[in-house]
Amino acid sequence: MSLCSACVLILLVILAEALGVSVVVLMFILLSQMGGLSLNIEEAGAFNLHPFLMTFGLVFLYGNGILVYRAGAATGLSRFTLKMIHFIIQLVAFIMAVLALFAVFRYHRTHGYPNMMSLHNWVGMATVVFFGLQLLFGFLFFLFPRPRESIRSAYKGVHLFFGFFIFGMVAVSILTGLTEQIFYNNGGFDSVTSKVLIANVISIVLVAFIGVVTFTVTSSFFEDNDEKIQDDIAAATSDEKSGLLEMKPAESST
Ligand code: HEM
Repeated sequence: MSLCSACVLILLVILAEALGVSVVVLMFILLSQMGGLSLNIEEAGAFNLHPFLMTFGLVFLYGNGILVYRAGAATGLSRFTLKMIHFIIQLVAFIMAVLALFAVFRYHRTHGYPNMMSLHNWVGMATVVFFGLQLLFGFLFFLFPRPRESIRSAYKGVHLFFGFFIFGMVAVSILTGLTEQIFYNNGGFDSVTSKVLIANVISIVLVAFIGVVTFTVTSSFFEDNDEKIQDDIAAATSDEKSGLLEMKPAESST
């Protein structure tokens, strides 16, 4: 990779991290004004675990899981290491999403609120289901049992498409969730209170984060690096003589 494109990549990764951390911190500040975080089911903080875990898992971790192939490939990490980091980050993100769902269903049941009524509920549930399937199929196709190469490369395009599609669904889920939360907690958008202001800023920063991550991963600007990423993705889908279990983490992917 040329020095110029390496510098741009570093700047984009720094920008993405700054935006991602800002979304999580701003969400934490917003929820602090709505009762904070708590395990006590009687307190609003028990509900607040839902948006916080969703934001940390499905925005910050999921975005970083996507970035790994672009940023990690530039660092010269082996294919096996990149693939495992990608999988582990997404697995942790999914576990957080499941815990977040558990938090909201537990809170609703305890307080006698109905389930699955709103647009946010439906889009949110679809997002988690799609993500679960993506993780499951990714594991089956790329890790174990890894069907033959022609099947894996046919699935590769589907996996890439759904990776970005789910990221878009995450955005819709967060934006509709924030809107609902403001309606419940602030009584609507009649005046720009600090809660409304923070929620609006989160929305903008979230959209910027998704934009920067998507651009960083899909841009053809990093042409030299693209070859390597294609190689890495192909490696994840191709039949290597040595097989997955024999690949050593220290192996260079060049
Ligand atoms: C990707 C992120 C998210 C997903 C997948 C998601 C998913 C869900 C689901 C499936 C429910 C239904 C629970 C039930 O019916 O008992 C729900 C409820 C809820 N969520 Fe989220 N959520 C996300 C993020 C957020 C965020 C960021 C907020 C607020 C800041 C939020 C606020 C709410 C509220 C207020 C409810 C309960 C009210 C209602 O029943 O509509 N969610 N969420």
